[in-house]
Amino acid sequence: MISKNRFVQAIYDATWGRFVFAGAYEWFLKTAEEAGLADHRQQLISQARGRTLEIATGTGLNLPHYSDAVTELVLTELYPPMAALLRAKVAAADHRAEVVEAAAENLPFPDGSFDTVVGTMILCTAEKPELVLQEISRVLRPGGQYLFLEHIRNPDPKIAKKQDRIQPAWYLFGNGCHCNRDSVETLRQSSLIIQELNYGQIPKAWTIIEAMVSGRAQRASDREQVTSGIVGSRAVEQPVCSSAQCATVS
Ligand SMILES: C[S@@+](CC[C@H](N)C(=O)[O-])C[C@H]1O[C@@H](n2cnc3c(N)ncnc32)[C@H](O)[C@@H]1O
Repeated sequence: MISKNRFVQAIYDATWGRFVFAGAYEWFLKTAEEAGLADHRQQLISQARGRTLEIATGTGLNLPHYSDAVTELVLTELYPPMAALLRAKVAAADHRAEVVEAAAENLPFPDGSFDTVVGTMILCTAEKPELVLQEISRVLRPGGQYLFLEHIRNPDPKIAKKQDRIQPAWYLFGNGCHCNRDSVETLRQSSLIIQELNYGQIPKAWTIIEAMVSGRAQRASDREQVTSGIVGSRAVEQPVCSSAQCATVS
């Protein structure tokens, strides 16, 4: 959503939002996907297991990467033109998945109902990313995992400045996307604990959306249980990365 003015939003949705943002979304990403972004998706999504929820699914670029370890797949998307494309893709490929139109800030699912939640390139766009993370934490079952991949504020201050300058135009181009958000910090401030964090680059992407992270997080309450020994061997803790040197996705 780019405007609180309903008239402006309706015109945007019927023109740019529908035909360019939604209609040409995969075309915009094609070069990056072919150059390696699809491999990053594969690495991440292949970890999904059990009852799985993907939020802000877009046109469904992650769909080919789910394995048989996923017992049930629920896909949510807020933007109607995207949801329509997603439904068509799910139907055409005969995917066993349910598509639900819902905001990631207000998920229509009970507490603790998913083993895995997947979110790729959503914290950049959601109006309230903190609420999205709160919702993810709420719908995850004890021991559940959140798998994420996000483009982020560039660690290089010069590029970050460029991101800040271009942000107003990028917001309109990308249907409400923020190229300059520090989503890692938002994650750190949330009720989720980062278990694995890989810094990398979206291959062949424009500099302003090049810096990327992917990884895995769990509910803070699971971590408390692990450290107090209640969960015992069910969860294996991984080192938490805190700097850009921590790990690189290649
Ligand atoms: C950059 S696209 C990412 C799409 C897909 N996840 C991917 O990796 O290609 C961002 C998506 O988030 C959706 N979106 C934006 N705000 C949202 C919100 N508050 N709740 C759910 N989806 C939202 C947009 O409609 C769009 O499909």
